[in-house]
Amino acid sequence: MSAGKERWGTRIGLILAMAGNAVGLGNFLRFPVQAASNGGGAFMIPYFLSLILLGIPLMWIEWSLGRYGGVRGSGSTPGILDAIWKSRIAKYVGALGIFMPFIVMVYYTYVESWSLGFSLLSIIGAFPETGGIEEMTHFLRAYQGAEMHESGMFGNVDTGAFIFPGLAYGFFLFTLGANLWFLYRGLSGGIEKVALYGLPALFLFAIVLMVRVLTLGTPDPAVPENSISTGLGFIWNPDLSALSNPQVWLAAAGQIFFTLSLGMGSIHVYASYLSDKDDVALSGLSTSATNETAEVIMGGTIAIPAAVAFFGVAATTQLAAGGSFNLGFVTMPVIFQQLPMGDLFGALWFFLLFIAGITSSLAMGQVVIRFLTDEFGMTRSRAVAVLGVVVFLCTQPVVLFIEFAYMDELDFWAGTFGLFVFGAIEVILFAWVFGIDRGWSEIMKGADIRLPRIYKFILAWVTPLLMIVILLAWTWLNAPSVLLMEGVPEETRPYIIGARVFMLASLAAFFYLIRRAWRDKEGPRARERERARAA
Ligand code: TRP
Ligand code: TRP
Repeated sequence: MSAGKERWGTRIGLILAMAGNAVGLGNFLRFPVQAASNGGGAFMIPYFLSLILLGIPLMWIEWSLGRYGGVRGSGSTPGILDAIWKSRIAKYVGALGIFMPFIVMVYYTYVESWSLGFSLLSIIGAFPETGGIEEMTHFLRAYQGAEMHESGMFGNVDTGAFIFPGLAYGFFLFTLGANLWFLYRGLSGGIEKVALYGLPALFLFAIVLMVRVLTLGTPDPAVPENSISTGLGFIWNPDLSALSNPQVWLAAAGQIFFTLSLGMGSIHVYASYLSDKDDVALSGLSTSATNETAEVIMGGTIAIPAAVAFFGVAATTQLAAGGSFNLGFVTMPVIFQQLPMGDLFGALWFFLLFIAGITSSLAMGQVVIRFLTDEFGMTRSRAVAVLGVVVFLCTQPVVLFIEFAYMDELDFWAGTFGLFVFGAIEVILFAWVFGIDRGWSEIMKGADIRLPRIYKFILAWVTPLLMIVILLAWTWLNAPSVLLMEGVPEETRPYIIGARVFMLASLAAFFYLIRRAWRDKEGPRARERERARAA
């Protein structure tokens, strides 16, 4: 059976798989860091406005575009955009929707593998028991191969040019292998099964950790201002003063995109296995609601309040600003080490991250697989093999040059900037090229709920205009300094340039593949599409 004919097993399986796609490292690592470094409560107002005005509308758009394309035989965005926009460049614009999940998968799977590694290191009691942030920072850096470790426990080999991280590499191989295995098992046999077991486990672990954190009280009675209530206050007391800061708005909107897996072609692929009789309106809303529960309730209650209770608001903000992985991989283990049964809580925390990660990386992988099977008629096993080899090769620089911001560069373009670009394009095409009347009835087709009509207006005007404003503001404020590598140390630059060359080459490769696929099948495909349109 070709992968294009696959179907989700059950409705609940689909919802959980979509929630698994959205709920990821972004919820538990990225959200706390974004919230803390953008002023806590000040971040939450633009965050919720972005959810309502951008996130939820785009979720509906992507679900219905995915279903629309899937019904017509193309589940990934080159084929989908080609179907709704009669322009020769539509399919190339759609390339972004495979390019981004592919690039993100290349570094995301590696981060995911750290969480598996740290989960096991925690359970065997390998974390430094005394010593605080500084010692744990060394531990993380040694695991990553950013520095050597006196104990030799990480199996690092210093080659002179870089350090080869033996243990981390092993966990990476295992994690990539697990991803490929589930992708090979297929949509309902692999992805859906992982979500069916994984998501309930993830929620259970998160609840256990939340209860533990909420009962921390005031860990150090000598410093009464550092308590859980200060921590909760830090994110939940709205602070209006930061609303005039455009960077806070951009960070909030960017987080909404990343966490909901929007603007990257990924929701489309999962929705492409639906038929016109299936609901997308309620399902899209459920996906968003599940993700937001995991993000603000769980992601927000665990890392930030715990860090504030132990280290105070100022130190937490600083820790968050110091690096994307500090809160999750350094601060949290240090906190757990000071609690009874800390190794167990640590293991739970990192295993939760692993589950969150794998259900998302499967979604990224499935994008590429759907593209290869739809447009090249590959079998699923072949597509999985191609994906595996390519991702494995492309991850090598991520692993070896961890110290040189190679990963951050990929994340900036494919995990942040690109989402604004592609999201803006999608909304405009949906509302103005496909047409808002057709678009609205596409969303309402098979729908189990009636959406408020105000959303038709939001979809046509508010979301597109906001997307354009955000895209322009982002480009204006951030792009020049990033492009010119302002403030980047001299020795890091070659790696950043390397990351850019890699991304441009990947994009060119996807353009080439699309060109080839369309040339091979333009004739029969075009006729087929005509027939579908006439029907
Ligand atoms: N939403 C995921 C998270 O919060 C990330 C993610 C899922 C993603 N699917 C994606 C990123 C596809 C890029 C492409 O972690
Ligand atoms: N440098 C990226 C960022 O600041 C890396 C990153 C942070 C990340 N959190 C992540 C990557 C979660 C994947 C998942 O956003």
